[in-house]
Amino acid sequence: MTPISDTQPKSAPSAFEKRVKRRVIARVHDFFAVCPPGLKTTCATELAALDKDIQEIRVLSGGVAFKAKLPLACLANMGLGSPSKILMRIADFKAENFSTLEKKIKQIDWELFLPGNTNLNIQATAHKSRLYHSGAIEERCRPIIEARLFAPGIKSEQSLFIRADQDQFELSLDMSGDLLFKRGVKQKVISAPLRENLAFAILKAAGFSSRDVLVDPMCGSGTFSIEAAMIRANIPPGFFRSFAFEQWPGVRPESFLYLKNTAQKGFSLESDPKIFASDIDETALSLLEDAIGRHDFLKVVQARATDFFDITPHELTPEKGVVVLNPPYGKRLGSQMDITHFYTEIGRKLAADFKGWRVGVIYPDKATGKALGLPLQPMPFFHGGLDLYAGIGKIQ
Ligand SMILES: C[S@@+](CC[C@H](N)C(=O)[O-])C[C@H]1O[C@@H](n2cnc3c(N)ncnc32)[C@H](O)[C@@H]1O
Repeated sequence: MTPISDTQPKSAPSAFEKRVKRRVIARVHDFFAVCPPGLKTTCATELAALDKDIQEIRVLSGGVAFKAKLPLACLANMGLGSPSKILMRIADFKAENFSTLEKKIKQIDWELFLPGNTNLNIQATAHKSRLYHSGAIEERCRPIIEARLFAPGIKSEQSLFIRADQDQFELSLDMSGDLLFKRGVKQKVISAPLRENLAFAILKAAGFSSRDVLVDPMCGSGTFSIEAAMIRANIPPGFFRSFAFEQWPGVRPESFLYLKNTAQKGFSLESDPKIFASDIDETALSLLEDAIGRHDFLKVVQARATDFFDITPHELTPEKGVVVLNPPYGKRLGSQMDITHFYTEIGRKLAADFKGWRVGVIYPDKATGKALGLPLQPMPFFHGGLDLYAGIGKIQ
């Protein structure tokens, strides 16, 4: 990848710009991709494939750490499908009392990282540390940072995480802004839709690639279908959204535009139907149709109001690809017996009509997974306050 900082500046850089380049853009920093439980391995695989200069990729509690220069971390925000957010570590020090903490906070070149008009959302946590009161940590740090960042104009929101563990402080900036599952494609959603990063990870686990067809027969507002259409068209998951880092002095607008233009050159848009989305609920389907009307890359999605049990895939496409299901579960279906019966019927339908297809089917507990009666590997994940599974495998 051509570093996005290498685009030609319009005029000679100022002393401030030179400092930003030297201290922020040109240096290798530590980053942390925060991931939902169950998605860390997908994220590490994505990072390794994104660029060879992303180094020291390590799966840790809560996410994946890596080292890179800032432009590559911007690319990771736009190009990764699985994380929830990406943090940039800006300082790391020991402080056992407030006067050391204040001294260390003063030593950070805040203006090189953040714009003058930053509205800071500080989230402090402390664990096994002498400075244990998170509210007091925030109160001591905020005025020092704000004194360095004061500028008039519309404020841009920025989260700063201050974490103390055994007196060791780590300060990280949220690069992403809104959580990364918000792709900027859908305008409306049904209640409790599947998060896009979970749909992405399930598609990947089921082996969905840019050459595969997809059947999404309980599509709701179309989360799986939209993610699959982006994979087919080679569109980075975050292409249509904005990020907190776009306001940072270390990311020039023309540099980020260059990054987006480069991605856009790799798009491969198609209009033949390759993704078959359906649902019995026409209201949910209309939300997907609305998105299809607004985005050319979604012309590959055919949306129809059909009952899953009436679908025969060879009538949709001669190819065999991936079928994904996020059936309703819990209260909406009534008793456990109803849920078990529903999943048994889904398993029977898949076994009868989807031979040779790869599968990703979400289920709420082990008993329901068993009721499917299919040889699927459970992929545990957490969604909407529930521990869930995606059963991954192939119908033989
Ligand atoms: C949990 S929602 C799916 C949410 C979807 N993944 C999203 O993110 O928007 C389950 C969907 O299954 C649909 N559904 C239930 N039974 C169905 C059936 N027999 N055939 C087709 N769709 C069905 C419901 O209308 C509902 O939209």
